[in-house]
Amino acid sequence: MKVAIIGAGVSGRAIARELSRRGVDARTYSRSSGFDVTQAGTAARIPAVDAVVEATGTVAMGGRAAGEFFTASTRTAAAVARASGARHVLLSILHCDAPAVRGFGYYAAKAAQERVARQESENLTIVRTTQWFEFARQTLARSRIGPLAFVPAMLVQPIAVDTVARVIADVATGARTGPLHEIAGPEVMTLRALVGRLPAPVDGEHLLRVPVPLPGRFGRAFRTGALIAAADTEILGPTLAEWLATQAD
Ligand SMILES: NC(=O)c1ccc[n+]([C@@H]2O[C@H](COP(=O)([O-])OP(=O)(O)OC[C@H]3O[C@@H](n4cnc5c(N)ncnc54)[C@H](OP(=O)(O)O)[C@@H]3O)[C@@H](O)[C@H]2O)c1
Repeated sequence: MKVAIIGAGVSGRAIARELSRRGVDARTYSRSSGFDVTQAGTAARIPAVDAVVEATGTVAMGGRAAGEFFTASTRTAAAVARASGARHVLLSILHCDAPAVRGFGYYAAKAAQERVARQESENLTIVRTTQWFEFARQTLARSRIGPLAFVPAMLVQPIAVDTVARVIADVATGARTGPLHEIAGPEVMTLRALVGRLPAPVDGEHLLRVPVPLPGRFGRAFRTGALIAAADTEILGPTLAEWLATQAD
């Protein structure tokens, strides 16, 4: 079985590891290896596969730039899937289309990506997840200015990226079916608390972690639990303590 993973970041690499562990021929494609989803005709560079996993990401937070990126990414992934008659597995964010966050740039872009994927891919599964434990490190890396890193006030219900990778691998190999899977970790906490439990120093440097409340109605939504799992969301471990124990290995 062959699976193409578009995106080779935190999730793309974890998905490739999990699929390879299962004996699947899994290859990653991303910008740094010369595969750019925003370039016309890129899809033709991926040979026939049984499934294409879309795990691209952008640091653009503005709705317009992020929207253009994610819809281009999905059009490319859908073209790969159509050319092979393959399954298209899209990695997305739990509640990205919820009324409380509707209009927030990055989430609106993910919601638009989901809509385009539904239009363009006949054999589509969307896997929506809460923020990952690894999101804490990504937040510090992306928000840092010199020795400071800014941590937005938000309630999260984090899940391990390796758990996400197992679910995606199940879908890619046909062990899970259906158009949508929504998954979350077992515990609710503030992002600040999660960041505070990361072993220091992060990435070899001591960063001063500065909490910042996000302004406006989106900030309030993030602070008051708009991203927390609903009652019918599938809850999957490990807990933060269990995950931290694996990081110490
Ligand atoms: N982080 C979370 O907690 C979380 C939670 C739920 C869902 N998600 C979603 O999961 C997805 C993946 O997130 P991630 O954190 O794994 O991403 P990431 O670590 O930021 O990696 C993004 C990947 O996308 C690739 N990429 C960027 N622009 C590209 C382009 N023009 N053409 C081809 N590849 C391109 C990058 O390639 P290069 O490195 O080669 O440039 C990189 O491999 C995102 O859509 C995100 O919204 C994330």
